[in-house]
Amino acid sequence: MIKNSDLTVGELAARSGVAVSAVHYYEAQGLISGWRTAANHRRYDRAMLRRIAVIKVAQSVGLSLSEIRQALSDFPAEAKLSAKDWRRISKGWRDVIDERIRLLTLLKEQLDGCIGCGCLSLGKCPLYNPDDQLGQKGPGARRWIE
Ligand code: FES
Repeated sequence: MIKNSDLTVGELAARSGVAVSAVHYYEAQGLISGWRTAANHRRYDRAMLRRIAVIKVAQSVGLSLSEIRQALSDFPAEAKLSAKDWRRISKGWRDVIDERIRLLTLLKEQLDGCIGCGCLSLGKCPLYNPDDQLGQKGPGARRWIE
């Protein structure tokens, strides 16, 4: 049953600050849901505004749609996300972001060692061959052998 508060795809896009094509994409990805009227027009519950806000925030902190989909998979696509749901989702993402910061900091430190070097040596460059991964696969020209 259509409610007065239901939104067209254009209204949902405008109020969310995303393109209409993004709304369609999110729906195709199962991140939001809508339905068709008897006249075959797409309609969305206002709850989708909050879901799109969650998606936009996640993207702004560098999370992939795959990671967003994983987090939202605990909630049916038509479900309204509460403040408590958002706290739970964002808490999980905090750990992911902390780990990325740790890895990027490590990469930055390794890059600092490479600046001015230019060797790109398989034997000693931590960026070109992190933890000598090729050496752990055995002797010889591993890139050539594999
Ligand atoms: S470029 Fe020489 S150690 Fe990375």
